[in-house]
Amino acid sequence: MAKPVIGILTWREGHSFKEPGYFRSLVKEGQKLGATVFIFSHKDAFPDKKQVRGYVPLEKGGWTHRTFPWPDVVIDRCRTAQDGYREFRKQKHFIYANNTFTNKMSATRLFTNNENLIKWIPATVDYSLDNLTRMFKKHTILYIKPGNGTGGKSIVKVSKTKDGYRLLGRTRGYGRRNLLFKDISSLGNWLNRWVQQERIRKGSFMIQQGLDLELIPGHVSDMRLLIQKNENGNWEVTGEGMRIGGVNNPTSNLHGGGRAASVADVLHKRFGVKKTEEIVAECRELAHGIVSAIEKQYGSMLEFGLDIGIDTRGRVWLIEVNPKPGRELFKKMGRSDLYVRAIRRPIQYAMHLKEESVKE
Ligand SMILES: Nc1ncnc2c1ncn2[C@@H]1O[C@H](COP(=O)(O)OP(=O)(O)O)[C@@H](O)[C@H]1O
Ligand SMILES: [Mg+2]
Repeated sequence: MAKPVIGILTWREGHSFKEPGYFRSLVKEGQKLGATVFIFSHKDAFPDKKQVRGYVPLEKGGWTHRTFPWPDVVIDRCRTAQDGYREFRKQKHFIYANNTFTNKMSATRLFTNNENLIKWIPATVDYSLDNLTRMFKKHTILYIKPGNGTGGKSIVKVSKTKDGYRLLGRTRGYGRRNLLFKDISSLGNWLNRWVQQERIRKGSFMIQQGLDLELIPGHVSDMRLLIQKNENGNWEVTGEGMRIGGVNNPTSNLHGGGRAASVADVLHKRFGVKKTEEIVAECRELAHGIVSAIEKQYGSMLEFGLDIGIDTRGRVWLIEVNPKPGRELFKKMGRSDLYVRAIRRPIQYAMHLKEESVKE
């Protein structure tokens, strides 16, 4: 059978890409697996000629491009939409390994409406001052975050204390905020301005039940679980790790200064070995439930990075589902075995899709 040709669709400006290290590894692992892999942007596809200008890394560093045949399967890894990308993506030019997904708020709604999943979903409502007051009647911590955000940006955590409302925030540039409001109306005034200043593409904000994630006192920490389709087209959890935020940081994201640790490092101390095993098993059950609900609604997918909160009582909660997840956590944990597996799986799955398409 002809060598499978796999294209990675992404953002490109000249010879620069957003995730050059990851793409280098993808092309290299693809070669080892017997596939031709290249990187391209929507501007590089010429449907009339059934050709693509594809980029591949040079041994000595940098990138080169040449003409490739129309790919058998395309993995959409575009995390920043350039002009024309969305329109291009809507057309059915290729067999895509991953369908398009949705934003955080719509995803949360989908899961909340699923009776098997709702137990893992923190209470979430649209941002408004009425909802802020209502949510504080039930919860002592609230998170206010963009319904279409990523990377731990523009997020605030507000905790009700005996002195008032303590707010910790990260701006879109990862600037820090640490403020105390004496009453809810002064907090509300500040938040109303914040959601205007920080909003992304006219998007709105959500208020979410805040989880107590201080498994390590003074630090927010949560789990990142990677679930991927394998070479047989079945979902499999590739691995998980923990991210630990800095002091007075409301988020654990690596880009916002979070550090990596293994699940055992963080959970054993707190819960012991047996309870940790139960927690991890529940996280995996959650992950399988989530991807199956997503595929029912949005079609076939490739991989997801799940942000999972394990609160101080050992309860498991879904915080967020990332459709184009990073793998740096495994590297930072010193788990190069997981890192390599996480790179190979999408290629193996794309090769599986090609085989399936030839059979049809
Ligand atoms: N409801 C919540 N309770 C506790 N911590 C939260 C909550 N929502 C977000 N966080 C913290 O903030 C981080 C970023 O939130 P997330 O919803 O994943 O947004 P982003 O898309 O910016 O990563 C989470 O990984 C977690 O550490
Ligand atoms: Mg996240």
